[in-house]
Amino acid sequence: MDVLMLKGGNTLKGEVKISGSKNSSLPILAATLLTDDPIIIKRVPNLRDTRTMIRLLQSLGKEVDFTNGTLSVKAGKKASYIADYELVSTMRGSFCVLGPLLGKLKKAKVSLPGGCVIGIRPVDLHIKGVEALGAKIEVDGGYVIATAKKLVGNNIFLGGVFGSSVLATANVMMAAVLAEGVTTVEFAACEPEIEDLTNFLIAMGAKIEGKGSPCLRITGVKKLKGVTYEIIPDRIEAGTYILLAAATRSDLTIKNTDIKHLSSLVDRLAQAGVRVYDEKGDIKIEHNGKYKPVSVTTYPYPGFPTDLQAQFMAFMATIEGVSIISDKVYPDRFIHIAELNRMGADIRREGTAAIVQGVKCLHGAPIMASDLRASAALLIAGLMAKGTTEIHRIYHLERGYEDLDEKLIKVGAKIWREKEK
Ligand code: UD1
Repeated sequence: MDVLMLKGGNTLKGEVKISGSKNSSLPILAATLLTDDPIIIKRVPNLRDTRTMIRLLQSLGKEVDFTNGTLSVKAGKKASYIADYELVSTMRGSFCVLGPLLGKLKKAKVSLPGGCVIGIRPVDLHIKGVEALGAKIEVDGGYVIATAKKLVGNNIFLGGVFGSSVLATANVMMAAVLAEGVTTVEFAACEPEIEDLTNFLIAMGAKIEGKGSPCLRITGVKKLKGVTYEIIPDRIEAGTYILLAAATRSDLTIKNTDIKHLSSLVDRLAQAGVRVYDEKGDIKIEHNGKYKPVSVTTYPYPGFPTDLQAQFMAFMATIEGVSIISDKVYPDRFIHIAELNRMGADIRREGTAAIVQGVKCLHGAPIMASDLRASAALLIAGLMAKGTTEIHRIYHLERGYEDLDEKLIKVGAKIWREKEK
């Protein structure tokens, strides 16, 4: 396995092109199970997670070609309804094949994804949603087995203890589009990735009102058709590069993105003294003197994204003063604190919050990536730090950042790979 080596401390300059959204691609790829017609999807990022979803679609009977970001999917000889442990356990996003399998085949056997380092991550809302549509659910041998003679629309309140759920909303929508009658979903997730899935389903012939809002009204149709569709840009990848630019005082232009999806980040950065603005469709970052510490609490969209919390903490680590960072979506998502502290940060956890006391600078160190976004935080920290940083277990980064090394080297980052000893 490779180790990512970084020599930090210099500023970067140039353009970074943002790839298609990982979190849109996963449910949209799953939604191809809703039809036997051929589908073409453009701007799919070539990532470990999207490749896992492609393998899952193939195991469910689809024929898939993935060339230069364009994915062509068509029905193979025989459809299967069983999503194996091997594929679902490596990527929780795989669980969103439950809704489309149930919608199309009226049966699904999908491995329970299990927990991960960012928390327990239950699937009760997914189950509640498809049960309300008439599915019978059994849990056996680590699998959720869902069956239905037919699915019938219903009124579903989909809020949980931590608010809305992105993939539960995706699963319920994908089951409801082929159900009989009308389904209303209250407390639906409003993330741009859910809106993207809604647009994709509408393009396939689904009838959905209220897109992008917490209240969806889905009128079931008999059949969906094939389409050609383009995935939205990845707002989390864009947010990561914006934070990287802010943290290293770099002059980066972020291309192929949509600033509308990043309002909460732009607002927090403005409070800190970083101006992030749109110029003819590109995002620019302007640094005005000394930065101020800013506190952040994550919430479901349009709140500050939990998927940028770790990267924001890395940025705050060297801002003089104290900032408080809380995560209301994944209250235990703080595994990056220990690694940042190994680089000289002064961060302590108190209950559900992290208290960041800004230090003068970070120092390079060997560090361990633990999950996708925590790894992005370590990358930012490494590029800010004095000296050389070694990031181990970088396969986490490969789950979510397309062409990471090339994009960074192009703007002047001193990064290279070495073989793990
Ligand atoms: C998606 C994203 C992930 C992001 C997360 C929150 C994908 C592939 N992944 O994950 O990157 O961090 O949204 O924005 O899109 N919950 C329940 N019961 C459930 C489902 C969720 O209590 O049945 C809880 C979760 O534990 C968490 C919160 O709800 O506390 C939000 O999770 P959810 O929106 O479901 O996350 P995912 O859709 O899995």
